[in-house]
Amino acid sequence: FFSCFVLQQHQDTELFSSEEDSSLYFTYSGGCNQLEVNSLHYEVDTAAQIPWYERLSEFKLPWEIRGNKQVAINDLSLRVRSGQMLAVIGSSGCGKTSLLDIITCRDEGGSMTSGQVLINGKPNTPQLVKKCIAHVRQDDRLLPHLSVRETLSFVAQLRLPTGFSQAQRDQRVDDVIAELRLRQCANTRVGNDYVRGVSGGERRRVSIAVQLLWNPGILILDEPTSGLDSFTAHNLVITLSRLAKGNRLVLLSVHQPRSDIFQLFDLVVLLSSGSAVYCGAARDMVPYFTALGYPCPRYCNPSDFYG
Ligand SMILES: Nc1ncnc2c1ncn2[C@@H]1O[C@H](COP(=O)(O)OP(=O)(O)OP(=O)(O)O)[C@@H](O)[C@H]1O
Ligand SMILES: [Mg+2]
Repeated sequence: FFSCFVLQQHQDTELFSSEEDSSLYFTYSGGCNQLEVNSLHYEVDTAAQIPWYERLSEFKLPWEIRGNKQVAINDLSLRVRSGQMLAVIGSSGCGKTSLLDIITCRDEGGSMTSGQVLINGKPNTPQLVKKCIAHVRQDDRLLPHLSVRETLSFVAQLRLPTGFSQAQRDQRVDDVIAELRLRQCANTRVGNDYVRGVSGGERRRVSIAVQLLWNPGILILDEPTSGLDSFTAHNLVITLSRLAKGNRLVLLSVHQPRSDIFQLFDLVVLLSSGSAVYCGAARDMVPYFTALGYPCPRYCNPSDFYG
């Protein structure tokens, strides 16, 4: 029995050391990056967006629908630079996804009425975004019939610079799989709503792995922890925090994080129906609201209470 116990313990330490030793992603050799958003206003049209020719062909009147504008983001300013992790928190529908979509130049049917987004002092353009920002979207867009390893190898062939040898590409794929703890499902197909594959949380981590693979300087993630259990979510944010410490800029949106996750953030923007209620250092958020007369009750998670 004793020898069996020792063997078990030995296997455990081996397992943990092999999971821990991927050191590739902790430094980023590129230059320092800065992201700035200045007094941004963003409006969306909530009327049904049926194209005019469909309305014409179905004889639906009136042909001109007067738009029903809704302000999705109202006068938002923020600034982050490499080495920092900024979390956008707030309840559902407060404009987190819209903000990240504007920063990465994705047109999702709204219009920016004023303000600007600057990446290293230059206005954001699709070309600039493609070169330096990795964006992990809220919905996973992956090929369902490839396995996890095939998905990553495929992206490695396309996204890594041509100077990389095949061995280096394979090494990179192995490192990312280890980093995001995807080893046990590396050969499972990814799947989607119709084809059963890896679990939802694993699929989320595959989407993050795809973006980590090309080692970007700016990493933007929309709700990376949604659908994960608290242990995996915590580990994922620790990974992101290590990435930020390795001279990267990490911007993520989170839906009411646990307090141990909240402590890992450097900066926080708290949104409420499109307006920033708080924007600044994470550790100053509770003192700020306390000074305004809204103390956080004892034993209460600040992001639950204020969010
Ligand atoms: N293209 C659009 N057309 C109509 N309404 C939109 C559009 N884009 C955003 N909205 C509205 O703007 C608001 C903010 O949406 P957004 O997706 O940014 O919320 P969110 O904070 O990401 O929410 P969640 O946490 O549920 O993902 C919502 O009320 C949404 O209905
Ligand atoms: Mg969203």
